[in-house]
Amino acid sequence: MTYQFILTETRERVGLVRLNRPKELNALNSMVMEELAVALEEFDRDPGIGCMVVTGDERAFAAGADIKEMAGATTVEMVQRDAIARWDRLKRIKKPIVAAVSGFCLGGGNELATACDLIVASETARFGQPEINLGVMPGAGGTQRLTRAVGKALAMEMVLNGRFITADEALRAGLVNRVVPVEVYLDEAVKLAGEIAARAPLAVRFAKEAVNNAFESFLADGVADERRAFYMLFSTEDQKEGMQAFIEKRKPEWKGK
Ligand code: HXC
Repeated sequence: MTYQFILTETRERVGLVRLNRPKELNALNSMVMEELAVALEEFDRDPGIGCMVVTGDERAFAAGADIKEMAGATTVEMVQRDAIARWDRLKRIKKPIVAAVSGFCLGGGNELATACDLIVASETARFGQPEINLGVMPGAGGTQRLTRAVGKALAMEMVLNGRFITADEALRAGLVNRVVPVEVYLDEAVKLAGEIAARAPLAVRFAKEAVNNAFESFLADGVADERRAFYMLFSTEDQKEGMQAFIEKRKPEWKGK
């Protein structure tokens, strides 16, 4: 299968997916998410693969969902497209996924990283949920998974006030597994994935499921509520203004409408 927005390769028993829209800071448009889901599902079926790594490039893991793709959408269009449904496919992947994160890891990018099972971060990684600056809120698990990972205090600051955190702060908060120099973050992630891939495949599969169950029970309702609220915000003037202002590179003027 040839992809437009991702690159795939295998390194022994590790399947590697690189997001490949460097000019757009790997913004996650629907094609990227579709290709990512297809590639991970393919690795998941392949008995020669035991663990996957998802990465971007040094400047950005991913700077969020593609603002330009959704800026003009209405709530009805957002609900009908239901692009976030693809994210449920990622959650059905049975083998572990390691996110290798460098640079910007924002919005949907951070939601993607936290939907993975482990995170290896470069010292340059910056994590954030800046949707509030666009007049919206996280829509793919950000208010749920991030809060469970880092706790309420920090999650509130990140979600309500758009604060970015450094890799070291993310490590202290329990968001990431380890922080390493930028030169080696991908190799370290592949090494970690290789160690897991060498273990008993069925035990790894059920252990991943069990840890996620502990982490995610009661989460499904929260994620569904969050998604409805995210789509609903596309009927506000502030969403249109926030995303248009981003595209026009100016400060948004909020109306509370
Ligand atoms: C579309 C994006 C983008 C995005 C960056 N770009 N982020 N395009 N969607 N999320 C584009 C820019 O428009 C620009 O294109 C190019 O990438 C380089 O970005 P710059 O802004 O010029 O880079 P820089 O000045 O270094 O600033 C980096 C940045 C900034 C701080 C990360 O790009 C930024 O604030 N991006 C938006 C981050 C964000 O709000 N993410 C949340 C999105 S909403 P041009 O054509 O001008 O060169 C979201 C909701 C998820 O994720 C809901 C569930 C899926």
